[in-house]
Amino acid sequence: MATAVKESVPDTPFYRLGGHETFEAICNRFYDLMDEEPAYAELRAMHAADLAPMRASLPLFLAGWAGGPRDWFEQNPGKCMMSAHKPYVISKAVAGQWAEAMRRAIADVAPQPIDMAEAMGKVLGDLAMGMGKN
Ligand code: HEM
Repeated sequence: MATAVKESVPDTPFYRLGGHETFEAICNRFYDLMDEEPAYAELRAMHAADLAPMRASLPLFLAGWAGGPRDWFEQNPGKCMMSAHKPYVISKAVAGQWAEAMRRAIADVAPQPIDMAEAMGKVLGDLAMGMGKN
């Protein structure tokens, strides 16, 4: 007799918040805000003219970071996000722009459970602030 195999989804923020669809939506909103809001002009100016590579890369990084598929980490073995940002001169003001745009993007997409989504926004904001100097 065939045994039913129950697919088990890991209980991590990535899956609980809706997987790739949610993470892509958050990152697209984040880069739309960065592109359109004068308040984030300094942050925008640090990025390449074409944001398409970042729209592809950030959601994959965040997916692995939040307990989802680890494609980005497999494609970038040993790469540390803090070290990768060392070459950039990031002021506290610009770090604050990153943190605020990310929190707004998460609030606009509003994935459920919202308290988990907001907690993720807070941790990402803290990470960004940790990259800022002065
Ligand atoms: C603190 C403010 C930050 C600034 C000013 C900043 C700036 C940048 C810049 C200029 C790039 C290169 C983009 C390009 O070539 O167009 C980059 C890449 C990237 N950043 Fe940030 N970043 C910040 C915070 C963060 C944080 C907090 C994360 C993740 C939690 C992050 C994740 C990434 C990723 C995944 C890449 C692409 C790396 C790759 O795929 O090789 N960044 N960032």
